[in-house]
Amino acid sequence: MKKIRLLTLIIPLSLLIVNCSTSKKRKSDYVEVKKISYKTDVEPIIANSCTPCHIPPQGKKEPLENYDHVKANIGAILERVQLPQDSRKFMPPVNKKPALTADQISVLVKWQQQNMTE
Ligand code: HEC
Repeated sequence: MKKIRLLTLIIPLSLLIVNCSTSKKRKSDYVEVKKISYKTDVEPIIANSCTPCHIPPQGKKEPLENYDHVKANIGAILERVQLPQDSRKFMPPVNKKPALTADQISVLVKWQQQNMTE
């Protein structure tokens, strides 16, 4: 009787553990092969951190409002966001917007390495 009760506890528990570890594995596989695209990955970062200054008509600075502009400026963008934050040229300006996170910067770097799909 006792044994049976123990089994009914152990079986669902082990199923749960197996399930968790396989779904974790799938997730990290996905991240490694993920293809970065402008529309789904890059544009939201720019839209969040570089507005309004770089988005016309309100923004008067180097326009970064579409694929062609961001692609043409990716070198300068990566340079600016990776400067030391006390540099005068650091983007976005420190007192205006939070700096990009390491994850966001790595999305931009990977996008450039993968030849910048739209
Ligand atoms: C609060 C307004 C503001 C925000 C937000 C902002 N910028 Fe800027 N940006 C400026 C100004 C002002 C300049 C011109 C002065 C300078 O070169 O530092 C500039 C210049 C630049 C330049 C140089 C353009 C050139 O012609 O050489 C790049 C590249 C740039 N920003 C990228 C970015 C990126 C990428 C973001 C978002 C992560 C961003 N900026 C967010 C105001 C902003």
